[in-house]
Amino acid sequence: MIIRKASIQDVDAIFDLIDSYAKEDLLLPRTHLSLYENIQCMRVAEQDGKIIGAGSLHVLGRDLAEIRSLVISPECKGLGTGRKLVYNLIEDAEQLGVENVFAMTYQVDFFHKCGFTIVDKQELPQKIWKDCMSCPKFLNCDETAMLIKVADYKKTSLH
Ligand SMILES: CC(C)(COP(=O)(O)OP(=O)(O)OC[C@H]1O[C@@H](n2cnc3c(N)ncnc32)[C@H](O)[C@@H]1OP(=O)(O)O)[C@@H](O)C(=O)NCCC(=O)NCCS
Repeated sequence: MIIRKASIQDVDAIFDLIDSYAKEDLLLPRTHLSLYENIQCMRVAEQDGKIIGAGSLHVLGRDLAEIRSLVISPECKGLGTGRKLVYNLIEDAEQLGVENVFAMTYQVDFFHKCGFTIVDKQELPQKIWKDCMSCPKFLNCDETAMLIKVADYKKTSLH
């Protein structure tokens, strides 16, 4: 299994992966267009020529980036691929010079295992002003905000 930067040719496979979970309301849906527009911030996990996972890193400001659309195909869950994708995305943040990486998630235990801790959403004003205000779930948001400092990630043996 390799983790690599996504390419335009991966978009259909990434769309299908996200769509299968979005139908269960576990992930926000993404259109093909939004995947093309954001292809430069996406990574994929590939095994034997097949895309088995994906995730993206979106910079929201000078010191903050968000992991979005993290997804592993159902038959490949539990093999450490999700964690490897997260670590690659944190390293992308480091290369960009971004100090903090967060995710809005239902997968609290998974992100804990990846070194993230729960934070108050109010600590993420860029997210609230950019996306949350226009979200229909804004007043009833049931996702948990979790954050890791890139410097803390580098200090640990997580990677
Ligand atoms: C969440 C998800 C990305 C995890 O990917 P994965 O490849 O299965 O996870 P990993 O194998 O890398 O797991 C890393 C650790 O987290 C744990 N873990 C993974 N999913 C977990 C869960 N749902 N509940 C509790 N622990 C979990 C694993 O047991 C492992 O622990 P270990 O270090 O003790 O062995 C994957 O299950 C998925 O695609 N879920 C559906 C979409 C989704 O909810 N995405 C998150 C959007 S923010």
